[in-house]
Amino acid sequence: MPMTRRDALRAGVGAAVSLGTPQLLAQSDQAVLKPIPSSGETITPIGIGTNRYGVGESEDERAPLRDTMARFIELGGQVMDTAAAYGTSEAVIGDLAMELGITSELFLATKTDIRGQIRGVEGFRNSFERLRAEQIDLMMVHQLVNADTEIPIMREWKAANRFRYIGASVSSRDQHGEMEQFMLDNDVDFVQFNYSLGDRDVAERLLPTAADRGIAVMINLPFRGARRSLFNVVEGQALPEWAAEFDCTSWAQFFLKYIISHPAVTVAIPGTRQVRHVEDNIGAARGRLPDAAERRRQEELFDSLA
Ligand SMILES: NC(=O)c1ccc[n+]([C@@H]2O[C@H](COP(=O)([O-])OP(=O)(O)OC[C@H]3O[C@@H](n4cnc5c(N)ncnc54)[C@H](OP(=O)(O)O)[C@@H]3O)[C@@H](O)[C@H]2O)c1
Repeated sequence: MPMTRRDALRAGVGAAVSLGTPQLLAQSDQAVLKPIPSSGETITPIGIGTNRYGVGESEDERAPLRDTMARFIELGGQVMDTAAAYGTSEAVIGDLAMELGITSELFLATKTDIRGQIRGVEGFRNSFERLRAEQIDLMMVHQLVNADTEIPIMREWKAANRFRYIGASVSSRDQHGEMEQFMLDNDVDFVQFNYSLGDRDVAERLLPTAADRGIAVMINLPFRGARRSLFNVVEGQALPEWAAEFDCTSWAQFFLKYIISHPAVTVAIPGTRQVRHVEDNIGAARGRLPDAAERRRQEELFDSLA
């Protein structure tokens, strides 16, 4: 029996990767890019998550974040994921990107204001102001809150070219059913949800549904967050020698390559505030990605340690 697209996705076959990326990555034919299905635009599949960028105004607090963002862009990174709910994160990113002159180079993704409960147009205007941007690359409904009323307004703003892409995010297993229904009911460009070697249930339904519907997927909590971190599981363990066969030199790259080698995944957004971690993480967007058999081997190893 021929393999269907859904079967292929489950098996992790046929990763949609291509070579060549902006900036430094472009100087090497080792770079991985992945396409956004609704447009065909390709992006570097490792971004930065910024739910800990909600700092104050002091140089002490902001300097490490500025350095991290500068290095990220220098290495060919694009996607920064933030949200109105992450304290001052949007404003910090907006200020630092302006100072560095990189606002137009970033792929800025943010989310509706579920903390301030500011809906629709007013919330969007606040995000533009804080991010100091003319256009926001991706606006998402945060945690699917008020999706029915937010999505139609977001669609209008996309038509007016203020948002390039629209979508929605969740981050826990108990929201996955609702996210699946959202994808089936709505014509959107992107969804965001959690996936990692330690949390693989989205491979059953959400990832195949996103692929079938032509929706790009942004993965949050790629290290399973700080509290249940995957790094704790592998603490004291040497990286297996066979990881070098898919150009992997650290546990972070082992975890991230597993995620972005899934054919339905477009980009993962590891949260970091450190230059050395950006350098490590962006390394996952270089060289070979694990194939289906190697992905199974990664799962077996992780499960044996967990
Ligand atoms: N519903 C939603 O929309 C939703 C919910 C949750 C999260 N998110 C998004 O997803 C992003 C990612 O989630 P997260 O930041 O909570 O968790 P995560 O990315 O799974 O893990 C972040 C942790 O990993 C550490 N880390 C990063 N790179 C590392 C490396 N190379 N080696 C060792 N440690 C490393 C970070 O510390 P350092 O700072 O020291 O690098 C931090 O402690 C968030 O920032 C946010 O943008 C969205």
